[in-house]
Amino acid sequence: MSTVFQWIHLTAAVVGVGGIAFLVIVLFPSARVLTPEQRDLLVKAVAGRFRWVTWTVIILLLISGLYNVRQFYWEEAWGPAWAFLTIKIALAGVVFLISLCLTLPLKLFDPFRERRKRWLTIAFILALIVILISAYLRLGSHA
Ligand code: HEM
Repeated sequence: MSTVFQWIHLTAAVVGVGGIAFLVIVLFPSARVLTPEQRDLLVKAVAGRFRWVTWTVIILLLISGLYNVRQFYWEEAWGPAWAFLTIKIALAGVVFLISLCLTLPLKLFDPFRERRKRWLTIAFILALIVILISAYLRLGSHA
């Protein structure tokens, strides 16, 4: 069972972070060849589809992540591993928050969406730190 949850966690992370990387590194810079009207159309179409990817990835990461916490950490005493795990979960929470502000169809978040590229870049950098901490935890606890 652990393998299935680990697979779900890794796959969701790959799809979610890979998707953000593609938008920031490839799609947004490439869209400069389009006229502003074409660019608006493209961004709207991409946002419509990416919204479902984002929400699915967040739900899967939360369920599989909590399972991993229960499986590998719950019985452990407080120590460096728990501290790093707490930092990781907090950073992941910020990534989720940014992603939700960019994708929830609420007028309230329009100012956020006007700076979509900046917020996605911040989310991408934070997600890279989350992966770094995850790799460190992996080596530390199961070596
Ligand atoms: C941006 C969101 C997240 C990303 C990119 C991410 C990524 C990863 C990666 C790459 C691993 C390593 C898996 C392996 O080596 O098999 C991992 C493990 C893990 N993740 Fe996440 N994760 C995220 C969110 C979460 C959340 C929200 C939780 C908890 C609620 C969580 C809890 C865990 C735990 C407990 C492990 C096992 C660590 C260990 O091997 O000791 N993750 N995560």
